[in-house]
Amino acid sequence: MPITLTQQTALITGASRGIGRGIALKLAERGIKKIAVNYKENDAAAADTARLVKEWGAVPLLIKADVGKVQDIERMFGMIKSQFGGLDIFVSNARATLATGFYAEPMDIPLQAWQATFDTQATEFLVAVRAAVPMMSKNGRIIAITYAPGGQTGSWQPWVAMGSAKAAKEALARYFAVALAQKGITVNSISPGACDDSVLSGLPSQVFQMIKEWHESGWTPMRRLGLPADIGNAVALLCSDEASFITGQLLYVDGGASLMDPVFPLAIQGIK
Ligand SMILES: NC(=O)c1ccc[n+]([C@@H]2O[C@H](COP(=O)([O-])OP(=O)(O)OC[C@H]3O[C@@H](n4cnc5c(N)ncnc54)[C@H](OP(=O)(O)O)[C@@H]3O)[C@@H](O)[C@H]2O)c1
Repeated sequence: MPITLTQQTALITGASRGIGRGIALKLAERGIKKIAVNYKENDAAAADTARLVKEWGAVPLLIKADVGKVQDIERMFGMIKSQFGGLDIFVSNARATLATGFYAEPMDIPLQAWQATFDTQATEFLVAVRAAVPMMSKNGRIIAITYAPGGQTGSWQPWVAMGSAKAAKEALARYFAVALAQKGITVNSISPGACDDSVLSGLPSQVFQMIKEWHESGWTPMRRLGLPADIGNAVALLCSDEASFITGQLLYVDGGASLMDPVFPLAIQGIK
């Protein structure tokens, strides 16, 4: 039987497109009645998400706010309070765009870009969770969308700022999980694998194709890229009543990619 959620309201940051949109649509499909769609600048894409949310019978609330700015986060939660009266589910999904200059190697990254990256991940999560919790009842759900390999490995050099910021966000999720456990609010992280219909789809087509073929070759055992709906399904699972005792965990939603050992070629590992 498909999951039916009992909560009423949700906020998803960075929901105008990509994974955030997939999460918003899945929550609407599973019965959430009011869905706040945060975004930074892409009005047309946000309006499209709102239209799709409505098709599932939910009421969308568009909130244009930069999650890298504390005053914007506070304004966003002010709008939630006045329009929704409370909040049951908060998904921190937005990611700074390349324009912030975060995509730079450890020896080169400007401090300002480093700081801006942390502002949209770790600081955003700290400020947003503190604003969300007073509006949440028991059965509240907080979910951080991270990229766990970025915080555990060192090979993707220009990812240093985002990887470090995501690691800080994951750590915060564990601290908040303990702090909020007695309120019945759970706090978990989801680490998506490489996803289609996301930031990756905007890469030059040859680069996107290389990534796709890499995963289809066996580095993702399920032999496909993820979809925004896969991440939406994981969020819905964690929001279900049945997940009320799961907190402080990191869930990989990557078709098994995180199980792969990079030490030997796939053929030597018996992967055909
Ligand atoms: N894509 C993947 O394969 C992948 C893999 C692992 C983890 N993730 C994580 O999944 C999340 C979503 O990734 P995605 O690929 O779906 O991203 P995306 O397609 O680039 O979408 C980014 C979203 O974030 C919004 N945004 C950007 N900067 C913002 C800001 N300062 N304030 C508020 N909103 C902002 C964008 O709004 P506008 O439309 O207005 O610009 C858009 O809605 C990210 O946290 C990412 O790190 C992605």
